[in-house]
Amino acid sequence: MAALETSQVNKAVAILRAGGLVGLPTETVYGLAADASQREAVGRIFAAKGRPVTHPLIVHLGSLCRLSEWARDIPPFARQLAEAFWPGPLTLVLKKQPSVLTEVTGGQLTIGIRIPAHPLALAVLEAFGGGLAAPSANRFGRISPTTAAAVREELGAAVDIVLDGGACEQGIESTIVDCSGEMPVLLRPGALSVTALADVLKQPVLSAAGRSIPRVSGSLPAHYAPQTPLQLVSADQLLQAQPDEGSSVAALVYSSQVFPVIPNRQYFRLPGHFAGYAQGLYACLRSIDNQGFDGIEVETVPDTAEWAAIADRLRRAAF
Ligand code: TXA
Ligand code: MG
Repeated sequence: MAALETSQVNKAVAILRAGGLVGLPTETVYGLAADASQREAVGRIFAAKGRPVTHPLIVHLGSLCRLSEWARDIPPFARQLAEAFWPGPLTLVLKKQPSVLTEVTGGQLTIGIRIPAHPLALAVLEAFGGGLAAPSANRFGRISPTTAAAVREELGAAVDIVLDGGACEQGIESTIVDCSGEMPVLLRPGALSVTALADVLKQPVLSAAGRSIPRVSGSLPAHYAPQTPLQLVSADQLLQAQPDEGSSVAALVYSSQVFPVIPNRQYFRLPGHFAGYAQGLYACLRSIDNQGFDGIEVETVPDTAEWAAIADRLRRAAF
């Protein structure tokens, strides 16, 4: 690792030990990290985000051998997933060890855990040694940041240092699987596809629909929302759009159609495949937000398993 990065890592670790907050790059989105074993430090996360204290945090670890310090009664299917996908964009919800602070788990008996794949996050975790509680580094209900600049824009002076690990490779949050019961249950679709999970498990992951699931702030209907009103529209509707003198519209598209040039309407184009779209989505919405459009029209994405995580985020953003 470069000398500058080493000094940034050392600085971040010192801040974490002193109970401070660190903007941490991960491969999914930037996290707002604090020492998961310090009550006051964890409290600072909730204050900085404006997040209700009942919403549990994900604990990030640097190595699989630390898992049993945080979780107990880990079922074989959870181990299988951890071994296959960690470090990576997968969060497992497991029964927590009694020593885990209730502030971290929002008072629940389970804990969300993942090992992130970003080299800078892993370097901090390795040097730190313990677990880092880290939600996405945005204010409550807003879009997750995918660059260091976006973290500063969201949290300003509330965060003690922001490590710059570049733009996040995945661009949307981790997939969350509840492994605290008899069977794996999908709590939040995310960067890792359910097909990849099912391939490893040799069985489909159950959907959370209709079950009594634990509280997940990302499962609230209105979440992950830009400040500009957003609506989902079909490619056909976009093709037939008429000039509207009163308001300016940002149209976010991905299909290869030629959309009409209309005054007061600007097109933003994302790649037409899941990985590229996910990588660019939040940065694009953030940039649209900062340009002061009156509204955002987003072309609906394919209704397939592959696109499920994007469809989920857009549905919430449009709420
Ligand atoms: O990709 C990610 O998961 C990012 C990066 C920073 O790791 N983190 C992230 O954290 O998205 P956050 O807090 O914004 O979203 C995590 C979700 C929340 O909706 C939370 O309620 C849920 O995970 N969660 C955490 N612990 C849980 C638990 N014990 N049971 C159920 N849900 C849990
Ligand atoms: Mg979040």
